[in-house]
Amino acid sequence: MNSESLIGKAIEVLSQNDRGDHTVPAKDLYPHQWLWDSCFIAIGLRHYDIVRAQQELLSLLKGQWSNGMMPNMILSREKGAVRHKPELWQSNLSPYSPDSVPTSGITQPPMLAEAVVKIGKKLPLRERRSWYRRMYKAIVKYHEWLYYERDPHNEGLSLQIHSWETGLDNTPPWMNELHEHQQAFWIRFVHAAKLEFIFTLLRQDRKFALPGERLSTLDGLILYSIQRRLRRKAYDIKRIINHSQVAIEDLTFNCILIRANKMLQTIAKTIGEELPEELLKRMRKTENALEDLWDEHTGQYYSRNFASHDLIKIPSIATFMPLYAGCISKDRAKKLVDLLKSPSYSTRYPIPTVPTNSDWFQEKVYWQGPTWMNTNWLVIQGLEHYGFKEAAEHVKQQSIKLVEKNGFCEYFSPKDGEPAGTEDFSWTAALIIDLLQS
Ligand code: GLC
Repeated sequence: MNSESLIGKAIEVLSQNDRGDHTVPAKDLYPHQWLWDSCFIAIGLRHYDIVRAQQELLSLLKGQWSNGMMPNMILSREKGAVRHKPELWQSNLSPYSPDSVPTSGITQPPMLAEAVVKIGKKLPLRERRSWYRRMYKAIVKYHEWLYYERDPHNEGLSLQIHSWETGLDNTPPWMNELHEHQQAFWIRFVHAAKLEFIFTLLRQDRKFALPGERLSTLDGLILYSIQRRLRRKAYDIKRIINHSQVAIEDLTFNCILIRANKMLQTIAKTIGEELPEELLKRMRKTENALEDLWDEHTGQYYSRNFASHDLIKIPSIATFMPLYAGCISKDRAKKLVDLLKSPSYSTRYPIPTVPTNSDWFQEKVYWQGPTWMNTNWLVIQGLEHYGFKEAAEHVKQQSIKLVEKNGFCEYFSPKDGEPAGTEDFSWTAALIIDLLQS
């Protein structure tokens, strides 16, 4: 298929998922507006409808909390399998939540500044400046929150309190930590009495994706029980981290934060603003703190448990995100590229979200093996940044082949490219447009 018709098809997917001022990730399955989805979507939209791309990001701002938090979901009443009703989150338990916009109480990787700058690059200087001015204050507030709330010991890394905050819901480093901690009584009971099947019958997501392609019911229950715990603490970070066993300084999240900090500096410079001194100090610290996540023995970066400071040494797609962060040495970047070329990552359709030689690897299970377009896109940006043009081009071409072969589905088998998850997924479409046009 030539690139023009592929782009045409991608545009069709995005318009089918368009809800006026924002785009849902996929109709029927995901009815809400998700934070990092909208950022990826805007990055694609900017190539053919810049005003709509700006709207996609502006509509995120109405969900921002008064303390700066950008929620991972702005909730809608539209029907869909991933329900997350406002009653489930009760975001109004927090004094900082917006009065009339129901949201979740947690965030997602800070892709916003990157999406704003990508749009800015398409605009002539005067319009770019006015675009940046519209977004600047909200992003500064968000980044301040990511540090003042989420880096309480001033160590340079932002902590996450739920795996949903990483966007990689059931990624092995998180699931491993969660499995090691004692589960809520009712979950232990359900498991011991082998009652998971009852909850499985109630699952709506299975109407849109085959059972073997989603996370297990037990893992789903564990994630919901953490969500309930956060709600009980009214999303108050002090109360949460005093009791939580699952605060993690996530590698992917912090790499995206490092890149976002650079983008925020670009925005500030373009409009002649000075970032607050304290924020700048915190931002500088993160680049150095990334080194604390490096393990010399295995030659990889990992996420870290916030309380124990132990690295969670389970490889996953996060391993390559320091390339996207762009602050590691060329030497380190080369080591990561060698790893990317090693047999357990060089599947026919790279990049598997878990290496194939890991006990965790499952070809089609959500974030435990499949190839996703957004993680590919992030790694491609990183490879290009460090000048690994051939490696970047390889991932890019195989990503394009995936959608040519199987459409814009949510994720794909890294081995044979078979589609998995739901069909017509917005960020797959948007990022293919970007890969074809950048
Ligand atoms: C799933 C993904 C998450 C995404 C959301 C909406 O929860 O894990 O990254 O934002 O779906 O697409």
